[in-house]
Amino acid sequence: MRAFTVTILQPEVKIFSCRPDQTLLDGALQSGITVPYGCGAGKCTRCRCRVVQGEFIRLNTPVNAKFARGDIVFVCCTRPLTDMLISYSDTQPYTGPSL
Ligand code: FES
Repeated sequence: MRAFTVTILQPEVKIFSCRPDQTLLDGALQSGITVPYGCGAGKCTRCRCRVVQGEFIRLNTPVNAKFARGDIVFVCCTRPLTDMLISYSDTQPYTGPSL
């Protein structure tokens, strides 16, 4: 199965491979790339990032259903459909009411 290339642009450039049947979080961790995350299951919002370029699919999870809009995704709940560019520079974990 072809793996896509995912490039983290900020805070520092990191590149990893991710298969279309993996989440971005699983692809990063499998490649030895450290990214922000907590629960790994779509509940804590710590893995929030912005998609700069590329197509993706959101998995059906609590955070994606309520808090991921437009180019904001949660890497534990997102799978790539193409090569992607993502950034953590202007996103923060969700700090609103409990999910
Ligand atoms: S790691 Fe908790 S929502 Fe993604």
